[in-house]
Amino acid sequence: MCGIVGYVGGRVATPLLINGLKRLEYRGYDSAGVAVWQPEALVIRKCVGRLSVLEQSLLAQPIAGTLGIGHTRWATHGEPNEVNSHPHTDCHGRIAVVHNGIIENYQELRAELQQQGHTFRSQTDTEVIPHLIEAELAAGAPSPEEAIRRALRRAKGAYALGILFHDQPGTMYAARCGSPLIVGVGPGEHFIASDVPAIVDQVRRVIYLNDGEVVVLRADSVAISRLDGTPVEAMIQAVTIAAEAVERAGFETFMLKEIHEQPRILRHLLARHEWQNGTVAMPDLALGAPYFRKLNRVMVVACGSAYHAGMYGKLLMEHLTSLAVETDLASEFRYRDPKIDPGTLVVAVSQSGETADTLASIRMAKTWGCKVLSICNVPGSTVARESDAVFFTEAGPEIGVAATKSFTAQLMAFALLSVFIGRARNEVGEAQAQELLVALRTVPDAIHYMLDRSADIRKLADKHHDGPSSLYLGRRFNYPTALEGALKNKEISYQHAEGYAAGEMKHGPIALINEYLPVICICTQTRDEVYAKMVSNMKEVEARHGRIIALATDGDVGMPQLTEDIIWVPPGRDEFSPLVNVVALQLLAYYAAQARGTDIDKPRNLAKSVTVE
Ligand code: M6R
Repeated sequence: MCGIVGYVGGRVATPLLINGLKRLEYRGYDSAGVAVWQPEALVIRKCVGRLSVLEQSLLAQPIAGTLGIGHTRWATHGEPNEVNSHPHTDCHGRIAVVHNGIIENYQELRAELQQQGHTFRSQTDTEVIPHLIEAELAAGAPSPEEAIRRALRRAKGAYALGILFHDQPGTMYAARCGSPLIVGVGPGEHFIASDVPAIVDQVRRVIYLNDGEVVVLRADSVAISRLDGTPVEAMIQAVTIAAEAVERAGFETFMLKEIHEQPRILRHLLARHEWQNGTVAMPDLALGAPYFRKLNRVMVVACGSAYHAGMYGKLLMEHLTSLAVETDLASEFRYRDPKIDPGTLVVAVSQSGETADTLASIRMAKTWGCKVLSICNVPGSTVARESDAVFFTEAGPEIGVAATKSFTAQLMAFALLSVFIGRARNEVGEAQAQELLVALRTVPDAIHYMLDRSADIRKLADKHHDGPSSLYLGRRFNYPTALEGALKNKEISYQHAEGYAAGEMKHGPIALINEYLPVICICTQTRDEVYAKMVSNMKEVEARHGRIIALATDGDVGMPQLTEDIIWVPPGRDEFSPLVNVVALQLLAYYAAQARGTDIDKPRNLAKSVTVE
């Protein structure tokens, strides 16, 4: 949730820290701080609010020094104020720590340390770490890294840490357990960061740290060890994303840029999974047709938008294969007692690959002997590394907090996987699979068409954005689309929005309908039996004077009789209509948020990567 950047080398640290933190602001943005090594002391500067406040402070009063750590915070323990901002220090300001994660046993550690005479200043869980390290050094730990290892053997929970010691000039320490952290390797310099995009314009080589590793970084050396002290060989890998991928490229926000990237990303995915040997190609999938032939059941787990993609995946897989497919929220799945055996494939869906609940579900599934296939956007992420097979969505870094391009890429992944599994099990014939692929290939152009209609969608958003609430209705393949449309709206425009299966409307939400309530009705599945049902639901809304905004297929002559507010969508196969419809809903939410004047890329209270429960 928080973002960490650290630097050791020959350049002035703070501009590099701010540059990196700006690219991590999507992880947290309620306060920020840096610690920089200087001969007389570790100099700490913290500011409440956006990173720009800290940046201005550093421009006004620069801190020299070539060794530093920085942090952008998403508050968990303690309100966002200067005292609770990171870095945190030990009693004497000689050890400075930035942290992403939660130290779950911090209260008992804090009480113990207070009894020993340590003074705490903040309400955070993080502050126990510098004090624990201080205590271990006082108790005779032979080196700072050993003090860190001993301290972390006592800490329960999740952490990525950057640590400086005043008596260790030219040395930065870092550790990871459960929260992401990478090392950037440059000539005569090293970085640490929560994510590759933070340092992609500075280095082209990285080391992905594993859980339970501590690293000592100097300008020209890297030494990794496990918590028990065993040395670990550093595996340096090339960075695959381009620096431009994390720029706005002339768009007013990252979200708008990412919405516009969707046709290109989907075209790329289709090209990667071209028709080959009677099925769609799965060039990098570590599970092949023989595995899918023997499979009994699929359990999809995910959170947020990825969960909505998983709901769509269930519908499509059930439609194209005889597999029993279930989808659950990872945060629920991990606490229930699912009857899962090794014959079940667990499919974990995650853009970031770092979501705590999704990761926990994967780990549970592995203890039951299940194979895990992840649909993931970030190479090197923990989800990707812990899965048996990965379908990479290759959407590039997604900086806007609201998922857009990663979501449609997940839908496309499910579409391609469903055809592949259907072919592997001989439940989809070759001709049918080819037909499906032909239909999928029309999706990028259909999305282009939606983007070209942005001005019309904006007019509808301007007309309907001002109410306190809105309702999104869809059926079958577009029930998850309704949920996702509502999520987008509430996330970025802060308008309460509810997504509902249209058939459930009569079972409660119909009570909300009056002349003030915008009801977004997704009615594009023209060949599906649910079309007529959806039209009936819209009539019910009309009869109660609800403000219908319809998503309808070009040429649907009946629709203007129901409402004048229509978003026209090009015709396509019903199964794949969510890939296009959701783009219209992303734009609707986007323009509503713009009209309401919110910070679209960094909506309040939200963090892009939810690395704590
Ligand atoms: O990185 P993940 O896909 O695992 O993240 C899951 C959710 O946190 C994420 O989809 C969230 O709901 C987004 N803010 C949605 O826009």
